[in-house]
Amino acid sequence: MQPGGILFFPQTPVPLPAADLQFLLGQQQTGSRLHKNIAYKPDRDQLSGVDKKSATPADLEQLHSVMRRYSASVDSFLAGFLAPYQMRWRLDYASFRPLEEEGRDLPVHRRNDLLHTDAFPTRPTRGWRILRFFHNIHPTRTRDWVVGDPFAKVVHVFAPGKLATPKPDTPVTRTAKSVAQSTGLAGLVPQWKRTPYDEFMMQLHNAMKEDAAFQSSCAREQIEFVPGSSWMVYTETVPHAVLGGQYALEQTFLVDPAAMVTPESAPISILEKMAGARLA
Ligand SMILES: [Fe+2]
Repeated sequence: MQPGGILFFPQTPVPLPAADLQFLLGQQQTGSRLHKNIAYKPDRDQLSGVDKKSATPADLEQLHSVMRRYSASVDSFLAGFLAPYQMRWRLDYASFRPLEEEGRDLPVHRRNDLLHTDAFPTRPTRGWRILRFFHNIHPTRTRDWVVGDPFAKVVHVFAPGKLATPKPDTPVTRTAKSVAQSTGLAGLVPQWKRTPYDEFMMQLHNAMKEDAAFQSSCAREQIEFVPGSSWMVYTETVPHAVLGGQYALEQTFLVDPAAMVTPESAPISILEKMAGARLA
């Protein structure tokens, strides 16, 4: 993949079984402020974000099976399609997005319609790339995105200036981390596992969404993903926003930046160059 690009499949290479597709199109979530989407966690074989008040146990079981199958089929497709990366990624969460994106009422940091690069508040990647595979399963509606200038350009709009240049670990945070590791608490204290890289990426995500002047003046390219299409993109590198569309599936992979053909284009490399130090 080219850095800053989207790899588009006019027809998805990972079609769903007809029964799974029909089942997903019959789902509607309520309470959109609480849950952006339904998540499937392959490592724990666990489903979250489901509106349990309106779902029967049979529905929940079927949704779980559909998501488990979807996650496994994307994983197996990419193992072949991205053979050079194999064994150098971690299968992260899959998601099902049943809500219409246009006009959603969400707090600013969770809004999808504002241009942003991805960072996960509770899942630090420590410099690993966020590769996401999407599928517009709506039978007739396009999924409408806007993409902006790539990370290497946009980061300089914000740092240094609006955001401080990322800094390496201070002795204090290093101590906190080593205490957490030596006492076996590291897994229980996620914030201690965040690296300076993760801190900066989260700040950048928030700063982009909060900055009305940036949102109105930045480069914006509109893309309409047709029904039945798929696309793959490094979402921590390609600023993106979702303006409209309903019913999408997505599977996330965390890819080792050292597995890249051009590791120097990974955000961790760009930020470490700016900082003059290691950040993860
Ligand atoms: Fe995003």
